[in-house]
Amino acid sequence: MLDDITRISSEFDAALAAANTAAALDELRVHYFGRKGGLIPALFSRLKEVPKEQKKDAGDALNKLRDRLESELKEKQERVAAEEAKRKESRDIIDVTLPARLPNLGHLHPVTIIRREMETIFSEMGYSLDPGPEVETDWYNFEALNFTPDHPARDTQDTFFLDVEPYLLRTHTSNVQIRSMENHTPPVKVLSCGRVYRRDEITMRRSPMFHQAEGFLVDKGIHIGHLRATLEHFIKRLFGADSKMRMRPSFFPFTEPSAEVDMSCVFCKGAGCGTCSQTGWMEILGCGMIHPQVLRNVGIDPEEWSGFAFGLGLDRCAMIKFDIPNIRTLFENDLRVLQQF
Ligand code: PHE
Repeated sequence: MLDDITRISSEFDAALAAANTAAALDELRVHYFGRKGGLIPALFSRLKEVPKEQKKDAGDALNKLRDRLESELKEKQERVAAEEAKRKESRDIIDVTLPARLPNLGHLHPVTIIRREMETIFSEMGYSLDPGPEVETDWYNFEALNFTPDHPARDTQDTFFLDVEPYLLRTHTSNVQIRSMENHTPPVKVLSCGRVYRRDEITMRRSPMFHQAEGFLVDKGIHIGHLRATLEHFIKRLFGADSKMRMRPSFFPFTEPSAEVDMSCVFCKGAGCGTCSQTGWMEILGCGMIHPQVLRNVGIDPEEWSGFAFGLGLDRCAMIKFDIPNIRTLFENDLRVLQQF
């Protein structure tokens, strides 16, 4: 019995020194003092087997052991609990010298970035901004723009018609030309950015909904030189001062003459690469001088006033500027993509 007391006593010292958390100390308590199978209660129950003449010594030794273990365990438990509380408290203290956590701001969509840049460039040239309606009538989207009812150019802009006649989803932002000229006597200078819709299959470059920007200006003595200078300024501002442009003859019912504008490829600077099919040029917009009949349709005398107009795809500009090969990337709203801008 006395041997066991000595052994347990020294084992306890080692175990106590090793236990440094509240949980480990609690395990220790159960091991030594637990009512079921605890070592100390087990020794006490063995006391009755001890021969009578040794009983007093054994009892004294056992009491001393129990008292020592209890008080040392309690003392260490209190110390560890105090240390843990202190550590927690220091965690909760606000360190005002730490740099502030940045708020988790969102990102501008690439198309929004391009739209805002365009709006800035044209606002600086005195243009006012007017997005115009997306649900439109045949008159504003087609007829007033010189698309007669059976005009073949209507087929190139495959249209979503609403159930309610004469409404449709606009196929281009040119509707804003008519609405602005109806409401304002010239001179007018307007930039219009917004969504347009065409019944196209989704491909790498096409989507049934996309974004256009339309600019137009009506004043006295406006000629194609003004158009060219305006576009050159715009392209250099948006794509870099080393960008070049060229005009090719084209056709739109609402402009005469009409042109398609190419700019030097932003990737190879005109040398020829895979993106520009080795031509060195990328098609970027359509433009022309506003057709006299369009001016007449909104009550403006083409003998007195003239103007130009141009239209381009904002999605396409974003794809070129940010080197995005697939238009779908712009509409999937994948955070891994959006967070890059
Ligand atoms: N509306 C034409 C299109 O969608 C672009 C354009 C606008 C052309 C203005 C000339 C003038 O293709």
